[in-house]
Amino acid sequence: MRKYIVAGNWKMNTTVPEGVQLAKEVVEKAKELPANVKLVVAPPFTHLAPVAEVLKGSKVALSAQNCADHVKGAYTGEVAPAMLASLGCEYTILGHSERRQYYGETDEKLVVKTRLALDHGLKVILCVGESLDERKAGKHFQVVTEQTKAVLYTLNPEDLANIVIAYEPVWAIGTGETATAAQAEEIHACIRNVIEEKFGAAAADDMTILYGGSCKPSNAKELFAEKDIDGGLIGGAALKAEDFIAIAASF
Ligand code: PGA
Repeated sequence: MRKYIVAGNWKMNTTVPEGVQLAKEVVEKAKELPANVKLVVAPPFTHLAPVAEVLKGSKVALSAQNCADHVKGAYTGEVAPAMLASLGCEYTILGHSERRQYYGETDEKLVVKTRLALDHGLKVILCVGESLDERKAGKHFQVVTEQTKAVLYTLNPEDLANIVIAYEPVWAIGTGETATAAQAEEIHACIRNVIEEKFGAAAADDMTILYGGSCKPSNAKELFAEKDIDGGLIGGAALKAEDFIAIAASF
């Protein structure tokens, strides 16, 4: 069964007290939502422990924004998947375009990170998406197909239940410019085909594929109405509980 998910990627925003307050507001407002949508928040590493406390007993799940590519040891500044799982993280985001662009995150690294995250009990929200230049060059289907295959095709069929894909066109992230519902839908359908080619129709049909990139209360309904768009990965609008919940209420 395909799950509908709205996940908030807080990126490097909020102090710890601000983040705890935001989490409290999200938990409170989430009570008004119907049970058909799963909510996830992804605060910075520093916020995970106190936010986990706030989320306890609520219907909001916790995610990290990244994890290390090693199990443990001498990797100064890194945070291992087992550490995140032990804090109560259910998910980690991996392969966000900001990590690919600014921190040299390659597909090869993502293969390692995804395997480790899954092996340590985390579900993975794997981000894919083309840049503006790639879209202008008409390469968007190719780029997204390659990024998806690079990680997914290294997995076992049973891993897929613990993977969520987020399609985030880089040109739409934080720019206020959203992909149209039709532009997003055709890429989502393409991703589902890529999954079907290797893992079969049932696995492809079960996969949750989120859209991300300037998703907000005013455009969420139209995006989520598409048959292959199963929710959103929300950046800016996730920093206001009211907007985040309004997006989740758009289903
Ligand atoms: P945005 O970010 O909603 O601020 O565009 C989305 C994301 O990068 O996950």
